[in-house]
Amino acid sequence: MAASHCLQLNCKPLANKFGKLSPNPIAKVSSIRCSVTTPRKRYTVTLLPGDGIGPEVISVAKNVLNLTASIEGIQFEYKERPVGGAALDLTGVPLPEETLLTAKQSDAVLLGAIGGYKWDNNEKHLKPETGLLHLREGLKVFANLRPASVLPQLVDASTLKKEVAEGVDLMVVRELTGGIYFGKPRGLGTNENGEQIGFNTEVYASFEIDRIARIAFETARKRRGKLCSVDKANVLEASMLWRKRVNAIASEFPDVELSHMYVDNAAMQLVRNPKQFDTIVTNNIFGDILSDEASMITGSIGMLPSASVGESGPGLFEPIHGSAPDIAGQDKANPLATVLSVAMLLKYGLGEVNAANRIEAAVLDTLNRGFRTGDIYSPGTKLVGCKEMGEEVLKSVDSQVPAAPCHAVCSSEDSPFAAALDSPNPNPKT
Ligand code: IPM
Ligand code: MG
Repeated sequence: MAASHCLQLNCKPLANKFGKLSPNPIAKVSSIRCSVTTPRKRYTVTLLPGDGIGPEVISVAKNVLNLTASIEGIQFEYKERPVGGAALDLTGVPLPEETLLTAKQSDAVLLGAIGGYKWDNNEKHLKPETGLLHLREGLKVFANLRPASVLPQLVDASTLKKEVAEGVDLMVVRELTGGIYFGKPRGLGTNENGEQIGFNTEVYASFEIDRIARIAFETARKRRGKLCSVDKANVLEASMLWRKRVNAIASEFPDVELSHMYVDNAAMQLVRNPKQFDTIVTNNIFGDILSDEASMITGSIGMLPSASVGESGPGLFEPIHGSAPDIAGQDKANPLATVLSVAMLLKYGLGEVNAANRIEAAVLDTLNRGFRTGDIYSPGTKLVGCKEMGEEVLKSVDSQVPAAPCHAVCSSEDSPFAAALDSPNPNPKT
């Protein structure tokens, strides 16, 4: 399939394709671009840049997606909408109805980041984070896949010793629309002593555990066949049910080796011996915490993408880092987590595996050529800002076109991300 796309390539001046957008960084890459005359597929992507560094990283990721798409004969239409603090400022709510509707009607949703100091003291329903939670709920994306692999190029950026970090390649499958994030009752109140209390409920129904467990088993099956379910079944009833249901679903996947671990131990094992993990499945709150921890093993949270998918409808793709208000607007952000989220969007959301592999290969090539943003910088490498990093990725995407036949760059085995990302597309759009 990939090779036949190559045969359809013909050369056109870049300006034809991008019209008046000549300052576009893509234009700096080369004046001639090989593209397919008639796009074989068209998709609509809702872009939600959000707050802080969100708009900067989304702008880079969009350029990478456009260039990759033009090579692969895919066309994207974008609908940009406000979410989080940006939406609060514009409309008074963190998730305007129009944003959710547009997202639901698109083929995939790409989010930058939400949150910032400005809105930190807002009431809960007016917090940017509430917008993101409603978006996940509204799109019914209950499965959040967060890969964390230590790339050989970045092993020195890890806070762990080289021998502990190198070779780590794990996937956290986080339940995303249940548990304590959404459980009721919740609220603020007063106890019998007249003291203020805050309370939340960790609650899971069997069907919620079963469906995330199945995705996790499928994911593990496509990786190294090992699944570790993380819970707190020695204390919490919700975790006791979690463990019981995961064990029940295990009978459908006899080829996957299942283990269980308490979350406190898992947090410890992740820094003691992270290579023991292949796929981890866990609830919403434990997944939130453990995926941040796992990101540090890889060197920087600025490198980690995520995919959130449901049973049907568009997936939501976002870097796992936040809005980083301390560096927002300073061209210091690492755009690679968002670029890799675009690769996940293509792979998991649209089933466009070749295009996804191109992007992963381009990110690796950029790192191989020594470019680093501040978060992954080490002496001897070239420090660049967000925009320049984006331009270098574009050069790498561009250089794959004449330098390698499609079947070479599109082979999933070529990509060191392959093991991390190569799990089933639980929500195929094609
Ligand atoms: C994440 C974030 C969010 C979460 C916040 C911003 C609501 O930390 O995606 O990990 O807690 O899920
Ligand atoms: Mg988090």
